[in-house]
Amino acid sequence: MTSSQASPPTARTRTPARRAAALDAADPLARFRDEFVPSDDVVAYLDGNSLGRPTRASAERLARFTTEQWASRLIRGWDESWYDLPLAIGDRIGQTALGAAPGQTFVGDSTTVILYKLVRAALDARPGRTEIVVDTGNFPTDRFVLQGVAAERGATLRWLSPDPDAGVTPDEVAGVVGPQTALVVLSHVAYRSGFLADAGTITRVAHDTGALVLWDLCHSAGAVPVALDAWDVDLAAGCTYKYLNGGPGSPAFGYVRAELQTALTQPIQGWMGSDAPFEMGPEYAPHTGVRRFLSGTPAVVGMLAMQDMLDLLDEAGNVAGADAVRDKSVRLTTFALDLVDELLVPLGVRVASPRDPARRGGHVTIDHAAFEHVVGRLWAQGIIPDFRRPDGLRLGLSPLSTSFAEVQVGVEAIRAALLEEPSPGPADAPADVAPSG
Ligand SMILES: Cc1ncc(COP(=O)(O)O)c(C=O)c1O
Repeated sequence: MTSSQASPPTARTRTPARRAAALDAADPLARFRDEFVPSDDVVAYLDGNSLGRPTRASAERLARFTTEQWASRLIRGWDESWYDLPLAIGDRIGQTALGAAPGQTFVGDSTTVILYKLVRAALDARPGRTEIVVDTGNFPTDRFVLQGVAAERGATLRWLSPDPDAGVTPDEVAGVVGPQTALVVLSHVAYRSGFLADAGTITRVAHDTGALVLWDLCHSAGAVPVALDAWDVDLAAGCTYKYLNGGPGSPAFGYVRAELQTALTQPIQGWMGSDAPFEMGPEYAPHTGVRRFLSGTPAVVGMLAMQDMLDLLDEAGNVAGADAVRDKSVRLTTFALDLVDELLVPLGVRVASPRDPARRGGHVTIDHAAFEHVVGRLWAQGIIPDFRRPDGLRLGLSPLSTSFAEVQVGVEAIRAALLEEPSPGPADAPADVAPSG
């Protein structure tokens, strides 16, 4: 190169679109984007942490199930495979997404109901201890379930109030746990900030005082590394419709450490968790294994699609390496934050997620007073992030289905919408109606 030639463009001098194209071209997981059913009117889907996209394989599996399984096998399907699905798929989730050996994970009710069962069981397993530690930034359903159980059982909630842009640290937990603590209930990835908690250290801190620990893994499973067995976690629960792409309302998973199972009695004693469901006996006797945490008839149709995402996650690990999904997730959120700093911070947007990628999950949140109105307009253009009160816009980036180009198009659209934003008026409907958080 002679001195008169221009030097090659550096990251900041290239346009966001060219940077996104280069990142997509270098992405070892890029081909997986074709495994998802495209949506006609969506330009940038940035809400994978609320509801994952359907895989093409699931579209086929769901159609086939009706004719090949339900219509042809009819009631025989229960004996042939459906009865075992909650534990078979539980084991698969455990292996692919939770770092859990077989026999500890089940698929059952909603996360809310599983939380209730596990919290009740844990409290009863620590007689004489009356406190449950939880944080103000935890997801509403976790807080509400705990408030209900505390009222029901005469327990006290010990509230942590972490930095809302971050989450709970081991030191904060160490400051409140003690001989009265029965249980610590926290989210591994905070639903608003995306903060990734140090689950291994926090679990150890709680165990040192004799408390049990329950992790909410809704925003973790399928996006960030989880090692429940290695961390010695007692209990966990999480959604399957986010990064496990199980579809709207697909049933949640629960995890109970093997050594704890027989010591725990869950409060919703249904026949499907009993020792011998088809004996129709007079008294409830819980199953000896993790099946005891089931209650009623499992949602077989709801468990179909998540199997295809588990296949894709396994395949991604096999072809690109065990860390490939997490690496892509970090690159996506880092790129999003770079663009936010460049294009949105000058317009008054504030980053409300951790800057340190090691402490960040699969989404980033940015705050601006106008977002409540802007998000509705973005949705109308096919740009789909979500809104969380009071002023947060979340960009949920799903490693196998989100492209860097979608992030770039999305952030540029947010910039354009902010530049056009009139003063807030009643005509702009807020877009925070999506039920998944
Ligand atoms: C962190 C977290 N916990 C719990 C839930 C509640 O799950 P469900 O409504 O399936 O019970 C959600 C839902 O989005 C969530 O994000």
